[in-house]
Amino acid sequence: MNFITVKTYEELSEKTAKLIAAQITGKPDSVLGLATGSSPVGTYDKLTEYFNNGELDFSTVTSVNLDEYAGLDGSHNQSYRYFMNKNLFDRVNIKKENTYVPSGCADDLVEEGKAYDTLIKKLGGIDLQLLGIGLDGHIGFNEPDEFFTAETHPVSLDPSTIKANARFFESEADVPTKAITMGMMSIMQARKIVLIANGQAKKEILEKAFYGPITPLVPASILQLHADVTVIFSEN
Ligand code: F6R
Repeated sequence: MNFITVKTYEELSEKTAKLIAAQITGKPDSVLGLATGSSPVGTYDKLTEYFNNGELDFSTVTSVNLDEYAGLDGSHNQSYRYFMNKNLFDRVNIKKENTYVPSGCADDLVEEGKAYDTLIKKLGGIDLQLLGIGLDGHIGFNEPDEFFTAETHPVSLDPSTIKANARFFESEADVPTKAITMGMMSIMQARKIVLIANGQAKKEILEKAFYGPITPLVPASILQLHADVTVIFSEN
């Protein structure tokens, strides 16, 4: 594992965007695993900047997102599909039909999960997976549990996650309590993983995840078993 500490969120975003840009330049038809939340916003801004400068071409890139809230369709301004369109997809030349986010509105989220895993396999797996980390150690929406779940699956969100994400909604009561998330299999099979976290509040969970025991009670700790993980932490 390569653990990089930088001072500012700006530096974190630039380093992360450069890794993703190098991935795309080296393999123009890369499959990117993407994350939402506040951590990658600066990275997506940088990638947009590189695209606008003519340095980066997304025309043959495919993306698969980690997760989506149950019950929110892509037109809802807190859905992760909406987030991705706004923060990246609508700003660069990626083909919309090559961008995938699991559907939180599917009638059967278990079946949706199976179809999503089949899709990822058909795409040849993920070349580079970008991850954030929750204060409880979740990656995607794989919450602390007694076991790791391999497949893309429906989940009940942890009360701490609902609380943390309430900042994006009008009130805590508006945060969906369920979601669908990529499971550990597709994440762990990604050829390269970049996990980003900013601010002192994330320091303790990063220490637990990367220097503590590997346990489903700290879901991100499974990443210690992956051969190519870069963690980028910014102190501010
Ligand atoms: C979002 C996701 C989550 C976030 C995590 C951290 O797609 O997969 O695991 O990465 O909740 O969120 P932020 O970046 O808002 O602190």
